[in-house]
Amino acid sequence: MCGIVGYIGDKDACEVLVEGLKRLEYRGYDSAGVALLMDSRIKVLKTPGKVSKLEKMLGDSHSAKIGIGHTRWATHGEPNTVNAHPHTDCTGNIAIIHNGIIENYSALKTKLLSLGHTFKSQTDTEVLAHLIEEFYSRTKNLEMAVRLALKDVDGTFGLVVMSSNEPDILVAARRGSPLVIGLGESENLIASDASALIRHTRNVIYMHDNEIAVITRDNVSLKNLDDEAVERDAEHLTFDIEQIEKGGFAHFMLKEINEQPETVLNAFRGRLMDDEGISNMGGLRDVEDKVTNARRFVILACGTSWHAALVGKYILEQYAKIPVEVDYASEFRYRNPVLMDGDIVWAISQSGETLDTLAALREARVKGVPVYGIVNVVGSTIARETDAGVYIHAGPEIGVASTKAFTSQLAVLNLINLLVARKRKTMTAEQGREIVAEMHRLPEKIQQILDNTVQIEAIAEEFKESRNFLYLGRGVNFPVALEGALKLKEISYIHAEGYPAAEMKHGPIALIDENMPAVFIALRDSTYDKILSNIQEVRARKGNVIVIANEADGRLRDLAEHIIEIPETLEILSPILSVIPLQLLSYYMAVKRGCNVDQPRNLAKSVTVE
Ligand code: F6R
Repeated sequence: MCGIVGYIGDKDACEVLVEGLKRLEYRGYDSAGVALLMDSRIKVLKTPGKVSKLEKMLGDSHSAKIGIGHTRWATHGEPNTVNAHPHTDCTGNIAIIHNGIIENYSALKTKLLSLGHTFKSQTDTEVLAHLIEEFYSRTKNLEMAVRLALKDVDGTFGLVVMSSNEPDILVAARRGSPLVIGLGESENLIASDASALIRHTRNVIYMHDNEIAVITRDNVSLKNLDDEAVERDAEHLTFDIEQIEKGGFAHFMLKEINEQPETVLNAFRGRLMDDEGISNMGGLRDVEDKVTNARRFVILACGTSWHAALVGKYILEQYAKIPVEVDYASEFRYRNPVLMDGDIVWAISQSGETLDTLAALREARVKGVPVYGIVNVVGSTIARETDAGVYIHAGPEIGVASTKAFTSQLAVLNLINLLVARKRKTMTAEQGREIVAEMHRLPEKIQQILDNTVQIEAIAEEFKESRNFLYLGRGVNFPVALEGALKLKEISYIHAEGYPAAEMKHGPIALIDENMPAVFIALRDSTYDKILSNIQEVRARKGNVIVIANEADGRLRDLAEHIIEIPETLEILSPILSVIPLQLLSYYMAVKRGCNVDQPRNLAKSVTVE
């Protein structure tokens, strides 16, 4: 996700910021910028692309002793110079860098426009610069202006503000996006993660949510947003940079699996209308009528994104009562598909650069139907070439095997289902409210699964030498079985097949013997009884059964050697939970087999060839 560095002290601020931003490059970003205080004025330099490009632009900016720097991973507005951070107010005297999402930015912007503020960018962050300006004009105190501005803000932030009016302080605040303060000799720093400041100091204070810090060259004062002082001792960091980058996890994949409570929350953030039991997505607002009145959806995707699309088919057909076809993007293009008036094509892609998906959507456009995107990377080619769409806001995915993008895609497909079904009146407001309420509970339920990995590790240990695996599920969890099998293949190089559980008897059952582990997803849902019979079929042939289940009942306990329990949720949301133990199982299998988890052989993160 975006990176933040701030510096005040005796050193060349420009050099410290650039070096810090380079340390944050691993997080993924699309543009970079700095604001430096020079000759009592704020100088802002920013550019799309790499920090090295920014470095070349800095020229004679090396006299500053205070500054802020940012690497942006676009969320609101495409990656370009104007949208890059830092952002400034109307006077150019206040500069801000920000990680997170301001949910009510649109309402705040309207208000600020009516007060005469002028905006340069499409970002939510610029709203903060003007809001702080507004309060500064009344209080003439930067800390107070930031605090008052944040009272009006819904959403998440890790932010740092500087002002030429108060040239000796940086003001930082946190809610939801991490910030760490580095304590040096005649200097202090702030960053979104410690890797950016560790060259200068290992003594740090981690900010907590709803805190504000005033940082000068020689002092740091910490308060909560209600203006009460907060005391916190500094910590001494002992771990190395590589450990910090992975957030203390052994691999990026494990870090990303563990980010899912937050990434799913981010996919829902600002998009749920609790009282109405409906969703609200800015990217679809202009095309809402077309979406709700569509006669058919055709969803195009590859790999893991294709599995998400299949889940979408189950959900949308059941609730929105709209026919959905799911196509491998690579096949769609070459089979001269029939598209009709009233069709809407959706392209799902994490990277937004997958060539097969891009080529397929271009084919659909040639045939004259609207094409909408469900994409993670803002400003990517697929995002640009679709007529409208929804960003999943999962943040950069570095591990080659897709994990958090999948659950965020499922979250967004559920949002689309909620919108379409409610608008088409195929779902009542009461049903909608029930789904929304359960969506709010999902992050906590994901966390419960992540807090209990010991059993999954033990299962991985037991089965790490197996040569084949079968993954079986039904209904909305059939695509999850496919995804579980794909994860295992990709990173542990064990052959695995996913099947609809009832299809097993039509062929794959011939494979079952004591050497064939079968992973079932058997949740207490509309297919529960049926899937118990499928488990029995495997047991009768001496297959090893591993089951992902809700709290297991006696019947299931008699049938399976290994039961991994996950919390109950609504059936349409259950894939967001049931996939997590499968991601973890493949991860631990790969680790135990000594595989390169983050960069499995023969695979690339973004497949830009046919
Ligand atoms: C699996 C995986 C791939 C991608 C596929 C599509 O872990 O990462 O199967 O899902 O290449 O990529 P995107 O979603 O970027 O279009």
